[in-house]
Amino acid sequence: MVEVHVLVQRYILCVLLSAHAVSSATDKMMRAAQFEKGGPENLYVGEVARPALGERQALIKVHTSAINRADTLQRKGLYPPPPGESDILGLEAAGVVDSLGPGCSEKWKIGDRVMSLLSGGGNSEYVATPEQLLMPIPEGMDYIQAAAIPEVWLTAYQLLHFVGKVQTGETVLIHGGASGVGTAAVQLVSLAGAKSIVTAGSEAKIATAVSLGASKGFNYKEGDFSQKVLDATNGKGVDVILDCVGGSYYEQNMNAIAVDGRWVLYGLMGGGTISGDVFAKLLRKRVSVTGTTLRARSLEYKSQLVGSFMQEVLPHFISGKVKPIIFTTFPLEKIGDAHKMMEENKNTGKIVIEVIQDRDKKDEL
Ligand SMILES: NC(=O)c1ccc[n+]([C@@H]2O[C@H](COP(=O)([O-])OP(=O)(O)OC[C@H]3O[C@@H](n4cnc5c(N)ncnc54)[C@H](OP(=O)(O)O)[C@@H]3O)[C@@H](O)[C@H]2O)c1
Repeated sequence: MVEVHVLVQRYILCVLLSAHAVSSATDKMMRAAQFEKGGPENLYVGEVARPALGERQALIKVHTSAINRADTLQRKGLYPPPPGESDILGLEAAGVVDSLGPGCSEKWKIGDRVMSLLSGGGNSEYVATPEQLLMPIPEGMDYIQAAAIPEVWLTAYQLLHFVGKVQTGETVLIHGGASGVGTAAVQLVSLAGAKSIVTAGSEAKIATAVSLGASKGFNYKEGDFSQKVLDATNGKGVDVILDCVGGSYYEQNMNAIAVDGRWVLYGLMGGGTISGDVFAKLLRKRVSVTGTTLRARSLEYKSQLVGSFMQEVLPHFISGKVKPIIFTTFPLEKIGDAHKMMEENKNTGKIVIEVIQDRDKKDEL
């Protein structure tokens, strides 16, 4: 009789232990955007393991993330993540600190509302990020607005200040003037006391850029923009070009840039091939061309960028001098539609992904 009792006890213990094992394994899973290489229809939401925290990393419970051109290239197999980084899409996220890994400072607490630049992994329920890249979400700003900040604002800030060294009174030509990066750059140029001219593919996009502070805008689909830029600068040309187009704009950029101009190349939407007497033209105008990327930069560089941005720009979101520009939002399950919209050039500003939708998050705002 005693033996039967012991057996029953052991059986119950086994059932309880295995139930616990199943539930803690489930606790460690999360929903995340997954894809098979190819078109936007190949995106879907799957269950994957939550990221494990490394030294000085924080786990963010993601409320919102966003789409960037780099995600569309990664989906096509053209832009793999840097070695060691998450292969889940998503270069930014906003949410709350869920937990902190070993060696973290005391700067952040569980439950803090944060946003972060990421090397990947944002289009999911949880993402790990170095604590040095966390930024506080300004008071009064919701998660949708916050997710529209890290990637494009830090990129635009880097292009203008770390690379292009824009000075007060200068003129900056911004291509893709209504893009995510472009709408941030236009506002940052004004903040720096400089003047911007944009190019974009429709009157509506130009009107948005002008409403954000651009002095003029030209529709590149209506012919050569370079003479118009020269006319707008009394024949001098622009001091800085933020160029995300490359190949197809090469001749016009060369005409539109001033002597001693700085040409910051950060994208190749118009191709990467040029021909002609490129060096002769660069030489004559003493133009410096700098190519730059952000995702593959060192943690030290990104930390400096984030620190400088928090000091110089973040307060202006609170004062209302600058604002994130959001075109629309999609739930995580509709991420394929979000990619399609971006690839059709329909957005002005950011396309945000809601991982937790409004109705679920009211209490936490
Ligand atoms: N190097 C870096 O660190 C870095 C970081 C972030 C982003 N980027 C690059 O920055 C660029 C903008 O990114 P984003 O996320 O802000 O993009 P976005 O919001 O998707 O906007 C891009 C816009 O560029 C215009 N465009 C597309 N193809 C074009 C072409 N062939 N010629 C001229 N204009 C074209 C389209 O607007 P229109 O209707 O006006 O044509 C499109 O809506 C991308 O090239 C991206 O790869 C680089």
